[in-house]
Amino acid sequence: MVYLNGPVLGIETSCDETSAAVAVGRNVLSNIVSSQAALHRKWGGIVPEAAARKHAETLIPVIEEALEASSIGLTDVLGIAVTNRPGLVGALSVGTTAAKALAVSLDIPLIGVHHLEAHVLSPFIQADLPTPHVCLLVSGGHTELLLVREPGDYSKLGGTIDDAAGEAFDKAARLLGLGYPGGPAIQKVAELGDETRYSLPRGLDDPTLDFSFAGLKTAVRILAENEADRLDVPSLAAAFQATVVRVLADRTALACRETGASAVTLVGGVAANARLREELRTRAEALGIPMFVPDPDLCTDNAAMIAHAGSWRLALGERSNIEMDVEAVCPLPGEVNHE
Ligand code: KG4
Ligand code: ZN
Repeated sequence: MVYLNGPVLGIETSCDETSAAVAVGRNVLSNIVSSQAALHRKWGGIVPEAAARKHAETLIPVIEEALEASSIGLTDVLGIAVTNRPGLVGALSVGTTAAKALAVSLDIPLIGVHHLEAHVLSPFIQADLPTPHVCLLVSGGHTELLLVREPGDYSKLGGTIDDAAGEAFDKAARLLGLGYPGGPAIQKVAELGDETRYSLPRGLDDPTLDFSFAGLKTAVRILAENEADRLDVPSLAAAFQATVVRVLADRTALACRETGASAVTLVGGVAANARLREELRTRAEALGIPMFVPDPDLCTDNAAMIAHAGSWRLALGERSNIEMDVEAVCPLPGEVNHE
């Protein structure tokens, strides 16, 4: 990938993390993330209005911290990259408004970044990736299998027909009284459980490259209701995690075989899951292809991946103008659907 030859300030406010980062291409100089998890925990999920307000309160100090940690002065920044799609509209508006103000006052280029593309490209920060490769993108709002022919050229191979994997983790955690965000909570408590104690449905019948997690969530709810006080929460959490991981790994391995991919990548918040990282690595080894997954702090939402993707698009000569909009739902740029 080619990159802008100088520091780019990245800004991310699409969901419940307020983040700013400075990167020169793949070289991440700072990456500050302020999570709103504690705020949303009391409601058991994200409240969009509260998220936007919190971003407005936190963003300027986070930007200042990112600049300070990078030792780059604001006037040395050569471009501003900001997530403008997809995400919570109010939350996105906070980041994009700040980004526009900075770009105008500093008289430097602005680029709106697609949040999911930033996740898909995030492994390039730490590795030279061969293409074409298969990317398993698993976040709070999305679960997709993609063929990455090269940066900017993607085909969707499969996706969820109902809940996203991260959403399934969050909903199951709520049913089990484990709090928000559910992924890390389930991973932690699952260590104490016996994953064979409960048997859970896998969703769609194989072979397919699509996913369905709604039935799994319902099965967790019914077990939680029926077992009540007898419920072995760590074992149900372990069974849930093992089922999701197995389904994700099976479908990803099938996608690799079907496409003859030369590598596989794992990205998005759920890619922070230790069990999933381990399982996908084992599958890739069996297929004889390399597997790349970013460090966990580059998997969950962060502005380093926004600065990285923005630096690349700016180097290609792309620019966003001051009228740039935010979008709640939006396909990947350059995505071709297989259907
Ligand atoms: O990519 P991300 O930070 O935000 C979105 O773009 O959605 O993903 C957040 C999701 C949440 O659903 C969270 O529960 C899940 O990622 N997550 C995990 C883990 N860490 C975060 N899921 C499973 N295991 C984890 N360790
Ligand atoms: Zn994300």
